[in-house]
Amino acid sequence: MVTRFSSITRKMLSKTLSRAAFDRKMVALCDYGDFHKTAKRHMTHNVVGPNAQKQHRVHRDTLIDDVAKDFHNHVKNHGLQPVNFRDIYSSDIFGLALKEAIGRDVEYIDVEELGRLSRPEILKTLLTDPVEIALRYITLGDYFPYLKWIPQGNFERKVEKMYFRRLAVMKALIKEQTERAASGEEMNNCYLKYLLAEGKTLTEKEITSLVWEVIIESSDTTMITTEWALFELARNPKIQESLYEEIRSICGSGKVTEDNLCQLPFLDAVFHETLRKYPALPMVPLRYVNEDIELGGYYVPAGSEIAINLYGCNVNEKQWEKPDEWNPERFLNDREEYAPNDLYKTMAFGAGKRLCAGALQGVVVGSTTIGRLVQEFEWRLEDREARDMEIVGIATQKLRPMHAVIRPRNL
Ligand code: HEM
Repeated sequence: MVTRFSSITRKMLSKTLSRAAFDRKMVALCDYGDFHKTAKRHMTHNVVGPNAQKQHRVHRDTLIDDVAKDFHNHVKNHGLQPVNFRDIYSSDIFGLALKEAIGRDVEYIDVEELGRLSRPEILKTLLTDPVEIALRYITLGDYFPYLKWIPQGNFERKVEKMYFRRLAVMKALIKEQTERAASGEEMNNCYLKYLLAEGKTLTEKEITSLVWEVIIESSDTTMITTEWALFELARNPKIQESLYEEIRSICGSGKVTEDNLCQLPFLDAVFHETLRKYPALPMVPLRYVNEDIELGGYYVPAGSEIAINLYGCNVNEKQWEKPDEWNPERFLNDREEYAPNDLYKTMAFGAGKRLCAGALQGVVVGSTTIGRLVQEFEWRLEDREARDMEIVGIATQKLRPMHAVIRPRNL
């Protein structure tokens, strides 16, 4: 349905959430129109399209090696004490996002308005705080327009504080890169360099927002999906073993890389079954209907707002057998029925004109991480942890980060 109707391509956001989304100067949350088309073309060309992804391969390989190394370091320093997956992965994937966005990872930044910020503080300002706002502070008025009158003073103050800090840090990061370039140092291939050269019609604020968009979108959704996949694998040792066997038979003693993905159908099935049960965005942003339309046999008048419940579709018993079970086999048994590459099957990447621009990167980074971490470690959960499945806000982010016991395998 979303595929066919151009009349429902406009996304509705509350005033405060628009502000959280950099006043909607980003591909994912702007209205459908000229800005959207131009900005999505830029992002596809330099960051997430197939050719751009080839150029960024070296950064993704470094990410996977760093992640594996960091988990080995955890075992070296803490033995079989449970590891907080999110602490390690979100920091490493943030490094990938920075390299794609501004050409390099950073250890600290001097911000005129805030002083010197360390890398964890930069990560918090650019990623954790904005995500927290988007996830937790959805007001009733966002979904029930007749409740929009309810005051949100406290929330608005939080959003403004976050906005100020994020803008200050982004400006400082951009300034540092442009000053280096001005002093003769070659800027690495990145989105910022590309936008400064090619985005002639964009304002400074739009460039800042678009560069930030890559940072936030490269990190969070992929992290959520990867964490759930490893959580389910740790809870289901037999499935984990089947995946390990597949990897062993294909890769032998070589490390899993992106080149192996097309030979690992079970790994692909694990990833897509995770997207089915835990779509990172279970309810995509509300759509505004700008002309009378008929949808699924219902008449929908212009001016309505539509909520599309991806999670609901993916646990519909008419479509999926035993939908509450996490069972990757369902994508293997009937490859025609559940062709994993058919992104519309679970719609976890949305659909139509507003289809996720970064689906390719999401699948490749998530799948390679899962493959490599299962190849190098056996994952287990303590009993209480295995039952901890609460989620937070409008995404399916695990409320509490997974703490898993990991045991290095003998490669
Ligand atoms: C597992 C990983 C990911 C999942 C599950 C995911 C999910 C989604 C979903 C459901 C939408 C559609 C929202 C809607 O219909 O309103 C979307 C849009 C989008 N995503 Fe992703 N995403 C992922 C990774 C990425 C990555 C790595 C990037 C790249 C930087 C990215 C960039 C975008 C952009 C730019 C849009 C907006 C497209 C538009 O409105 O035209 N995503 N994503």
